[in-house]
Amino acid sequence: MKYFTIVFISLIVFSQSGCYYDNKDLLVLPAPCDSSSVATYSGSVKPILESVCYGCHSGPVPAGNIKLDAYGPVRNVATSANNLLLGVINHTPGYTPMPKSGGKLNDCDIKKITKWIAGGALNN
Ligand code: HEC
Repeated sequence: MKYFTIVFISLIVFSQSGCYYDNKDLLVLPAPCDSSSVATYSGSVKPILESVCYGCHSGPVPAGNIKLDAYGPVRNVATSANNLLLGVINHTPGYTPMPKSGGKLNDCDIKKITKWIAGGALNN
């Protein structure tokens, strides 16, 4: 009888805890990267710059005198001979890593910007 009780209690305990497994990483899946479709300035690039870079690079006195809140100046850094925009967001050695004192952009955002530049950095 004692043996039976131990087995019975064990069964209850294991049935409560053993089969339930939450993996936080699996529960919160990252949004799939939509870099396969066409990357546009208005739909792909501007929203990224707006949320991450405008804080310092907009208004009358933009940081480093680099304005990123309008298409023209963004195209200039995107298509400069030394690939300034890609250099800073990829944290390529020799470039000033951006966003300054913040984390690197996620891979998906970097892909979108890269794709937009490869497509000619159009005002689309
Ligand atoms: C916290 C403020 C801040 C944020 C956010 C920020 N920057 Fe900058 N950025 C600066 C400053 C300040 C400079 C001037 C260089 C320096 O002082 O390091 C600069 C310089 C630059 C330059 C010129 C670098 C060079 O070598 O001439 C580029 C291009 C640039 N930033 C792009 C970006 C992009 C793209 C983002 C968003 C992904 C961004 N920055 C976010 C502060 C910021």
